[in-house]
Amino acid sequence: MIRKTLVFISASLLCISPLPAQSASVDQRVESLIHQMTLEEKLGQLIQYTASQPDVRGLAAKGGVGCVFNSGGAAQTNALQRAAVEESRLKIPLLFAHDVIHGYRTIFPIPLGIASTWDPSAAELAARIAAKEASASGIRWTFAPMVDIARDPRWGRVAEGAGEDPYLGSAMAAAYVRGFQADSFLACAKHFAAYGAAEAGRDYNSVDMSERMLRQVYLPPFKAAVDAGVRTIMTGFDSLNAVPATANDHLLKEILRGEWNFRGFVDSDYHAIGQLIDHAVAATPQEAALKAIRAGVDMDMFDATYLTLAAAVREGRLSESVIDASVRRILRAKFDLGLFERPYADEQRERSVLLAKEHVDAARRIAQESIVVLRNQGALLPLSKNAGTIAVIGPLADSKADMLGSWYAFGKPEEAISVLEGIRAKTTQIAYAKGDDIAAAVTTAQKSDVVVLAVGEEGKMTGEASSRAFLDLPGNQQQLLEAIVATQRPVVLVVMSGRPLTISWAAANVPAIVWPWFPGSQGGHAIADILFGDVNPSGKLPITIPRSVGQIPIYYAHLPTGRPEDPAIKYTSKYIDSRNDPLYPFGYGLSYTRFEYSDLRVSGLTVSADVLNAGERDGDEIVQLYVRQLVASVSRPVKELKGFRRITLAAGEKRRVEFTITKNDLQFWLDHGWTVEPGTFKVWIGPNSVEGLEGTFEVK
Ligand code: BGC
Repeated sequence: MIRKTLVFISASLLCISPLPAQSASVDQRVESLIHQMTLEEKLGQLIQYTASQPDVRGLAAKGGVGCVFNSGGAAQTNALQRAAVEESRLKIPLLFAHDVIHGYRTIFPIPLGIASTWDPSAAELAARIAAKEASASGIRWTFAPMVDIARDPRWGRVAEGAGEDPYLGSAMAAAYVRGFQADSFLACAKHFAAYGAAEAGRDYNSVDMSERMLRQVYLPPFKAAVDAGVRTIMTGFDSLNAVPATANDHLLKEILRGEWNFRGFVDSDYHAIGQLIDHAVAATPQEAALKAIRAGVDMDMFDATYLTLAAAVREGRLSESVIDASVRRILRAKFDLGLFERPYADEQRERSVLLAKEHVDAARRIAQESIVVLRNQGALLPLSKNAGTIAVIGPLADSKADMLGSWYAFGKPEEAISVLEGIRAKTTQIAYAKGDDIAAAVTTAQKSDVVVLAVGEEGKMTGEASSRAFLDLPGNQQQLLEAIVATQRPVVLVVMSGRPLTISWAAANVPAIVWPWFPGSQGGHAIADILFGDVNPSGKLPITIPRSVGQIPIYYAHLPTGRPEDPAIKYTSKYIDSRNDPLYPFGYGLSYTRFEYSDLRVSGLTVSADVLNAGERDGDEIVQLYVRQLVASVSRPVKELKGFRRITLAAGEKRRVEFTITKNDLQFWLDHGWTVEPGTFKVWIGPNSVEGLEGTFEVK
């Protein structure tokens, strides 16, 4: 402590030149600052604390912290900012960060829900609005998007990403980056890399995978984010092939900065530098810090392990130029954000921006697009508004908080619309039962004409540290469901969740299943819009829904096997107690109209098909393109998504949808680089990953 105080006193006695004039180039201003900074002030820029860190204000006043995260509100951020800008020696502003994942105050569907829209412009808009609201509160950096591919729904964080597919995931990653960074705001692609492949779906667990799998499946969304100009990257908690991601030269130096030429800064995850000790690759905090900074981690989230680097520099174990390089990247971002010129948030403006009408309207529209209808036997849906009494039943039917899912920043449960409220806005003939008393719920169902049963996970069951070994409906929901179905009233099952759940019984016994994930502040309205047909459903699954936990990992783009499943032959790849195929495949989702695909044409690498809205309602269809190389020097997946388009067709309208396949779509990782091998390819255009028109093309 005394030592630290002395350092600060001596620093303040140094002759300080004023900041260079604002016209000086950013590079000059950065260099001039670095030139004036003490080693402690430099390390301060690399340190990130939460607002609850003891005396964070005092540290800001001494230049001992560069970023404060998980605080918010213009008044609070301004108060801390004053300490940095008005009291610290060099007046370097703080950067405020937050997990603004699917909205700041106006909450959008969880990212897995947004991925179900297959509409990158929806992701972009949600991100732009989230950034606008967060900026109004003084936050200028979000720890989003999470672009981790996840093929294991046991992992609770599947909720935060775009699902199982690298092509869809890349499109979403780029869209989020464009949206978040549209106006003086930093996005952060996380968690670099392969964090979503945690063994057994258990959060924070290790990952061992081939370079090919890493390159082809887990890295593309990060590459897409970098290509879209993402300014920051967060490392993962995982160890990848026995090297923790936070000290991983291959990921950070060779790939991110070397191959991809990433110019922004890299943040560790929460305490991940200190945890290099728990990963057993460092014995002391200083060793951990040295490993992380040498690998290229610029900022240290939360635990200030980087403070040990001062001694490392003084003892000659680390060149100060390594620290300068990180400081340079962080200062550069602060200048580019305009923080030196405008460090404060406008408290007046904050009030008018949060929950602005156009934000709330967008949340409803995007939630409508994200809802997936999985089953609709006998056209039970849409419901008529005069269909008699609707029983709205279930633990999630009137739960406002559970509309928001996990990581909902400054969203307020009381501002969310529940399913019951959404239905009430459409019709008044409603009976409600929460369902914890199953007998009472059955009585309610018996007295009504149709039942909407809202079940699923509570919001807090998903997200970080929320892995599940069982994916059934939680608690007594399955009993409730069976009891309600036994009343023989038609049942519409609404399942809220942050991940696929195993609902085989429901899929066989309930006529209608609607899957809104966690749909956000306006979720109840959006669900009711779909239930009553004011909006025609269009969402499609961005992740496979398995029949059972035993099938996991299950994903459509798997490799072929030497012994493909044949129910008649024992020694083929299958289970003795389950089918291989999923309950609902990737890309699947129903509409209230019918789309017919015809006339596939292939000309060179251009593939097209007609899509007809053969029903009586206007609707959106998500047209999907899949490709397979039949023979190559290594096995290629049985199908890979290589294009998709959301189109709106009026009833009776037909449109030709055309895709152009590029070299990038056909390449795969071989030995040490990307390659395209000539040969025959199959191609499909269709409504999901199992149906579609099939053609072939040749690559010479
Ligand atoms: C999570 C990150 C998050 C960070 C800050 C960590 O525990 O893994 O995704 O951004 O906390 O809240």
